Amino acid sequence: MTETLYKRLEDAVRRAGAILKDAHATADTTYMKEGPANFVTDYDRQIQEQLIRELREILPDSHFLAEEDHMQDPLGDGYCFIIDPLDGTTNFVHDYRYSCVCVGLARHGRMHWGAVYNPYLEEMYTARAGEGAYLNSQKLYLTEAHLEDTIVAFGCARYNSDDTDRLFAYVKELYLHSQAIRDGGSAGLDMCGTAAGRSGIYIELRLQPWDFAAASLILQEAGGIVTQINGDPVTLDKPCSVLTGNPAAWRESRELLERMDI
Ligand code: IPD
Ligand code: CA
Ligand code: CA
Repeated sequence: MTETLYKRLEDAVRRAGAILKDAHATADTTYMKEGPANFVTDYDRQIQEQLIRELREILPDSHFLAEEDHMQDPLGDGYCFIIDPLDGTTNFVHDYRYSCVCVGLARHGRMHWGAVYNPYLEEMYTARAGEGAYLNSQKLYLTEAHLEDTIVAFGCARYNSDDTDRLFAYVKELYLHSQAIRDGGSAGLDMCGTAAGRSGIYIELRLQPWDFAAASLILQEAGGIVTQINGDPVTLDKPCSVLTGNPAAWRESRELLERMDI
């Protein structure tokens, strides 16, 4: 892919973010999906529609695996965009201003490019496979930091609350071995925060590929580790758990969780 194409992809994500930044959810534009506190708004759909239209113009034969409106092609063998048009919808509904647009591009089933954009802070995270990760124009170099010297970030959605006891047992253990815990409410932004060294790890028991695809490449390219909780690779074609971090904090977390044996 040429430099111009990458630039066009990033511009499309930035334009999607502009819609998010100016939008405010109201009762008339917010709907319930399955399960408790599972919201979708007209803006999730509007942003996804615009992204798909623009990304299709840039790479015409691509597949799309996107959260809304059953736009869920198989990854296939060529290019596949993996899109969460609005990650952090509950935050958005409450005007919490911590949400983002996540667009990953897989090629032959592996992550090739990714962008996560926080329009409120104008923070654009990008990565290309094998070429590093950036926060705006600054290259990210993740250094080793022990869990005890970091913040632990985690996620849990009310509509995915089956394993709440296990998650909170893990989070309690991690809390007792770190400086603080945070649930930001946007897996994409929280994982990118780990890539930028703002937190030592990010953990969640069940995420969809669109929640983590783009951010997983950004984290790996920054020098972080991205796996499931048991250390297996994450799966781009189905939901899975996610444990990511700088190498030292990730290793120490894995050891702690394994010792818990639950
Ligand atoms: C959710 C957010 C949240 C995470 C959930 C996700 P959505 O995505 O990333 O932080 O804990 O598991 O589903 O619904 O806001 O796009
Ligand atoms: Ca999401
Ligand atoms: Ca979403």
